[in-house]
Amino acid sequence: MASVLVASNRGPVSYVLGEDGSLDTRRGGGGLVSGLSAVSSQDSVWVCAALGEGDREAVRRGVGEPGVRMLDIDPDVYADAYNGIANSVLWFLHHHLYDIPREPVYDAEFRRRWESYRAYNRAFAEALAGAADEGAAVLVQDYHLALVPGQLRELRPDLRIAHFTHTPWASPEYLRMLPDAVREELLWGMLGADELGFHTSAWAESFAAGADVAGTGTRVAVHPLGVDAEELRALAYRPAVDERLAELRAEVGDRKTIVRVDRTELSKNILRGLLAYRELLTARPEWRGRVVHLASAYPSRQDLEVYRSYTTSVAELAEEINAEFGTEDWTPVLVSVKDDFTRSLAAYRLADVALVNPVRDGMNLVAKEIPVVSEQGCALVLSREAGAYEELREDALTVNPFDVSETAEALHTALTMPHPERADRTKRLATASTALPPQRWFLNQLEALRGPA
Ligand code: G6P
Repeated sequence: MASVLVASNRGPVSYVLGEDGSLDTRRGGGGLVSGLSAVSSQDSVWVCAALGEGDREAVRRGVGEPGVRMLDIDPDVYADAYNGIANSVLWFLHHHLYDIPREPVYDAEFRRRWESYRAYNRAFAEALAGAADEGAAVLVQDYHLALVPGQLRELRPDLRIAHFTHTPWASPEYLRMLPDAVREELLWGMLGADELGFHTSAWAESFAAGADVAGTGTRVAVHPLGVDAEELRALAYRPAVDERLAELRAEVGDRKTIVRVDRTELSKNILRGLLAYRELLTARPEWRGRVVHLASAYPSRQDLEVYRSYTTSVAELAEEINAEFGTEDWTPVLVSVKDDFTRSLAAYRLADVALVNPVRDGMNLVAKEIPVVSEQGCALVLSREAGAYEELREDALTVNPFDVSETAEALHTALTMPHPERADRTKRLATASTALPPQRWFLNQLEALRGPA
């Protein structure tokens, strides 16, 4: 039994099943993992889903980490909930990604998937209800688990429940695209919480504008997650990263670098970023041969065609740019399409310019990480639609993410920013980025929840 419980789809560990039947443990990083380290594992339980065969096998064999409870949900129900609803419908809704011809389809198949989403949320609510001490604090994470607060409230009215949304929240107009009964159930689920947390006031206001919060007893709060400077620098200055940095330096030479790191996913706007780079090379030919764009693209949610084809398009456009401008000794875009955090950290250290241009993003921690580890200070080109914009706008070069020409021009301004100005801005960006490190972020929510209701 626990007095603090966390629930999220993706947990802090995962297991890979080897051909010889062995189970290899992989530990994840990220804000939640370091946030929860503020609480002793004896008092806490983290409930998460078994994501693949390795995780399911670990559950079957009773293998696990102390304080982590993995739920082996029926694979079909899980696929419907995770791929069919969370990463198709809800992700697209909150990031305003619906557009002709990518329109939502709310038919019988959608309704069947919605039932799976409800069942998957229910499995979490039941596991939490069974593991929580009287009056325990429960911190539910993200759009995968939007119904959990309402379901858990019914099972255990004694608990203090918070829900945190790591994505943006859809505007009321977007939310109204959902079938009425589904929208009402979604809001009912969320409003089961004592506190609803968001990264920025924009997303909190968006929620409040589309829901009837008054009289529900739910507080809407803003907790902008930041980075832990010490932990990140320790990671970024390991020998393995030094080696990758030496390799990258050898490839880049004395050219300037524009760095970006994203999961391959439509809201990140990687294609318009590449188009802006192409426009820079076209409109300002003086940069040809003098700059390299280092892009790390982590393939994400590849079970879904829309994410797969986006990943392919990113690789193709990078190749096109290389074919158009590349010379024997200069490759304009060095793109790595794999999950390689070591390479990303090396690129962070090398960055002259960081490009973060999502069309809509809950926070975007890359924008906060690069200033903290960059070696010679880097200029940040930042979308005004990223959550990080609220805290970093003054020292970033801010852009409309849909405007390719404006982004190209911002890249030029960033590349030509005088060194002292770049260093000063980076220092202030790093200070703002580390204002609320994960442990404090987590404790603030816990304290808010345990305070007078
Ligand atoms: C976003 C979501 C997280 C999610 C992450 C990776 O940041 O807010 O909840 O874990 O993307 O996506 P994945 O589907 O791989 O867990």
